[in-house]
This record gives sequence, C-alpha cells and structure tokens, in this order.
Amino acid sequence: MPPTPALSGRPAVIFATVGPPSALRIRGEAPNIPVMKHHQYILTGASRGMGLGLAEQLLQAGNRLLCISRNANPDLAATAQKAGVPLTQWTHDLADGVGASERLKAWLQTLNPGELASISLINNAGTIPPILPLGQSHPADLAQALRVGLEAPMALCAAFLGATASWTLPRKVLNISSGLGRYPMASQAGYCAAKAGMDHFTRCMALDEALQTHGAKVCSLAPGVIDTDMQVQMRGAAGEAFPDQSKFLQLKAQGQLSSPAQAAAQVLGYLARPDFGDKPVADVRD
Ligand SMILES: NC(=O)c1ccc[n+]([C@@H]2O[C@H](COP(=O)([O-])OP(=O)(O)OC[C@H]3O[C@@H](n4cnc5c(N)ncnc54)[C@H](OP(=O)(O)O)[C@@H]3O)[C@@H](O)[C@H]2O)c1
Repeated sequence: MPPTPALSGRPAVIFATVGPPSALRIRGEAPNIPVMKHHQYILTGASRGMGLGLAEQLLQAGNRLLCISRNANPDLAATAQKAGVPLTQWTHDLADGVGASERLKAWLQTLNPGELASISLINNAGTIPPILPLGQSHPADLAQALRVGLEAPMALCAAFLGATASWTLPRKVLNISSGLGRYPMASQAGYCAAKAGMDHFTRCMALDEALQTHGAKVCSLAPGVIDTDMQVQMRGAAGEAFPDQSKFLQLKAQGQLSSPAQAAAQVLGYLARPDFGDKPVADVRD
C-alpha cells in the first residue's frame, strides 16, 4: 500500500507520559509510563464508496478510527485487525443526527487528549434523494437527504467542536461537499441544498473557530467525480426527469471518473496540506 498522504511529513508516533506528576508520585509507585500518542479519525460513511477508500488508507500505524454508517464493513474490520490498527464501527442511521451527535459527544468525553497527537472529524456520508424535479419529489425523501447530508454533519460538528473545545492539540473538520453545492442542477434540489448548506455552515464554523486560541481548522471540500454507487444512481435516473444525465453517462464512458481509492488519496492529501483550513470552502482539484 502506498504511504498515506495524510501521514506524510510528520512522525506517525509521538510519545507522552501518563500518571501523576513526579512531585505527586507516592513513594514506591511506578514512574510515569510513556504511551504512544495517536491520530484519532472519526469518519462517516466508511462502509463503501469513497469513505471505504478513506478508511482503508487511514489504517496505518499511529492512527485510530471510529467509523459511522448504517452498515459495518466486515472486510474493513479484518484489514484493521491485520494492520493492528484500532477500528470501531458504529452502525447508526445518520437520519438521526441528534442521536449520533449525542453518542459522539459522550464518546469524546471518555478520551484523554494527552494521548492524542491530533483528532479529525470527516463528514463523508451523503445521500441523493430520487432524482426528480422538486414538484414531483416526495417531502419524506427530501427530509431524509437533508437530515443525512446537512443536519447530521452539522450536529456532529457541534458535538466534536464542543466536546474538544479546551483541547490544545491539532483539531480538523473535513466536510465532504460537492460541486453541486456550488452549481445548481435540475432535479437535484435536495442534494444541492444539502451541500450548499454544508458549505455555508462550514464558512460560519471557520469564523467561530478563528476566534479561539486553539480553534479547529475546518473545510468543506468537493472531492471530484467518483465511480461509486452515487454515480450509478445518477446514470440510472429516468432520463426525461434529469436533463443533465448525459453528462454523467459521458464522464463514465470517457473514463473520467476517479476511483474511490484515487479520490480518497486526493482528499487525504488535501487534509494533510499545511494550508488546510485557510479556505473554508474548497475543491480537491484546487
Ligand atoms: N460519487 C461522486 O461522484 C461524488 C461527487 C461529489 C461529492 N460526493 C460526495 O462524497 C461523499 C461520498 O460519496 P460516495 O460516492 O462514496 O457515496 P456512496 O458510495 O453512495 O456511499 C455513501 C456512504 O454514506 C453512507 N450513508 C448513506 N446514507 C446513510 C445514512 N442514512 N446513515 C449513515 N450513513 C449513510 C453509506 O453507508 P451505509 O449505506 O452503510 O449507511 C456509505 O458508506 C458523499 O458526501 C457525496 O455526496 C460524491
């Protein structure tokens, strides 16, 4: 496996000590024990598609992963075990963003920041409602897409930033957006609205964090066009309801889609850039 861009340029392992300061140590007690600091990643939508590519590439020594999606991926669990990288997979429907964020907050409160080299939240899960003009869309489908694509990422960001606010280690939030958050498309109102909302709340979040001494670096990033189930859904939509469908058919026919692994490598490369967060809304092709 090629080296993970997210890890390049910095040591994978950093040491810290745990236990009481020496002045408080009781005579005869074991001295401070060195522990390895690790990079903690929280990643949504790692069961398939680009999220799976991200998770696979993050399974490197010195990292720990918490993944959240409706389904766990047993192959990912096996790869993590082989690599000796701690991986936890929560099966949680992100239509319940409030529940997921409460669970995340409680979990973050169990962590010892002294044992972490960095912590990153990657909101990657997303969903496209049936591809139809808004007037033909079912409100329940629109609500589901907005819950998963906008409400849950925002709630998870709130929990992440709140629970780690006093931590002085590097904290990052990477929201996976889309070009469709920036350019309108017929029959895609629900998906476009979720991504446009994600971009804009990330801009606000960047302003909030810039006011903090150790504020998190945040970015809403468009990952390019990727050969996943989502593209299958675009190509499979009813053509008469989706005037732009031919563009997606053409991209596939001309081999212009990134593989999930390529897209994941580009995204992790962007996350590792020293200027990550300088632009709260960006494109991996920038
Ligand atoms: N593919 C593209 O061309 C493209 C272009 C621009 C942006 N993006 C964005 O990139 C991200 C990844 O896209 P992808 O193409 O890899 O998508 P994908 O193949 O459809 O995978 C979506 C991931 O999100 C999870 N997910 C979906 N609904 C969920 C729910 N209700 N609760 C929890 N998890 C849920 C899925 O897991 P479960 O099914 O196990 O829940 C899966 O792991 C998305 O945010 C997408 O909008 C994709």
